[in-house]
Amino acid sequence: MRLPTLLSRSSRGARAALAAVGVALLSGCGWMNLDGPQSTLDPAGPVSRYQMNLFYLTCWVTFVIFILVGSVLAYAMFKFRARTAAEEHAVPPEQGHGNPFVELSLIGASVFALVIIAIPTLKGIWFDFDVPAEQKADAYEVTATGYQWWFKFEYPKEIAQTADPVTGKLTAAGALTTGNELVIPAGRPVHINLRTMDVIHSFWVPKLAGKVDMMPNRGNFLWLQADKPGYFWGQCAEFCGDSHAVMRFRVIALGPKEFNEWLDNQLQPARNVPLPTVAANDRPKAQFASFRTYKQNEAGYTEQFDLAPLDSWRAKQMPEKNEDPVLIAQGRALFQSKTCAGCHRVRGQGAEGITGPELTHVGARTTIAGGLLENNADELHRWIHNPGAVKPGNKMWVTGYIGNNIKLTPDDEAALVAYLQSLK
Ligand code: CUA
Repeated sequence: MRLPTLLSRSSRGARAALAAVGVALLSGCGWMNLDGPQSTLDPAGPVSRYQMNLFYLTCWVTFVIFILVGSVLAYAMFKFRARTAAEEHAVPPEQGHGNPFVELSLIGASVFALVIIAIPTLKGIWFDFDVPAEQKADAYEVTATGYQWWFKFEYPKEIAQTADPVTGKLTAAGALTTGNELVIPAGRPVHINLRTMDVIHSFWVPKLAGKVDMMPNRGNFLWLQADKPGYFWGQCAEFCGDSHAVMRFRVIALGPKEFNEWLDNQLQPARNVPLPTVAANDRPKAQFASFRTYKQNEAGYTEQFDLAPLDSWRAKQMPEKNEDPVLIAQGRALFQSKTCAGCHRVRGQGAEGITGPELTHVGARTTIAGGLLENNADELHRWIHNPGAVKPGNKMWVTGYIGNNIKLTPDDEAALVAYLQSLK
């Protein structure tokens, strides 16, 4: 079928729709969602911005080549097509055997196109590799370690404190450790050492930097920088077992003052909520209603969280409203008796496990379960009620709940949730 015929047969509506899709693609609006939480096309730091610009440059160079080659091909097909039955069966015209001028020009043009791409690519490889020399002195250092299926973050230069559970005496407890939420200073380069405790994982914060693998027995690293304070989604980007797809984390970048305040609080031992002098019978019970109406729903965040995640993070630094000190004390005791303390560390409260994430300040995080669920009473309850349903194959479920035959009553769950929420 001839091209003009094809065009005249396609309806006006179809052509309008095609044009609309083209405009949407080019303008980057609508369903393409270029500024989604894990979009590499909405960079928030110099490393990811360099990588995106390189991607676009490569796209444009190849796009020009595509248009040139496609046009020549279309021209040749249209111009030299057989118009009649006689032409279809005619002897083909004499074939050429190369034109030195054309061939040399094409080789030259190809080399030129490759050079246009290669120079910024090589510059980018050196730029991405490590913090630029002139910024080295200002770089902040952290260590990220992959576990099946969560991330541990260590701050090697920040020494955390623990307290004697009986005397309250403070002592040094080694480098500050957190889980699943990496808090960094905004506007400063951050050098991240990448380690793994088990299999290969990959560290990826799409808006801040490209992915780098966490390899067993090998020290990898990357660097990134957030232009300004913000809340960023991260993800393990290498298949690592059952729950790889839900192995997530967050990066929270803060201004200098807020970062130092956060650090000061994190270095403290776990918060201890004192028991009240009021008789236990006077305690309101209504706050557990959410557990009775609990039903399994889709993982999702509240609207408030989605609209302003950094503000949600800030709100999390404050003690919960309507804290119940008696319930919290029950939870603290259950944390020991139900063997949670064997795997999790809560500095200053006799919990020294290192197999699972450190929980000293877990109540101040926005997410739980390896960055999968929003950290609120309902989701905490869902997680400790049946971790296997949330994250198949996880150690808390397999070796903790099943291995240690842990059984929790609804009251136990309510107490543990209250305790974990109190750890600000
Ligand atoms: Cu860790 Cu995928």
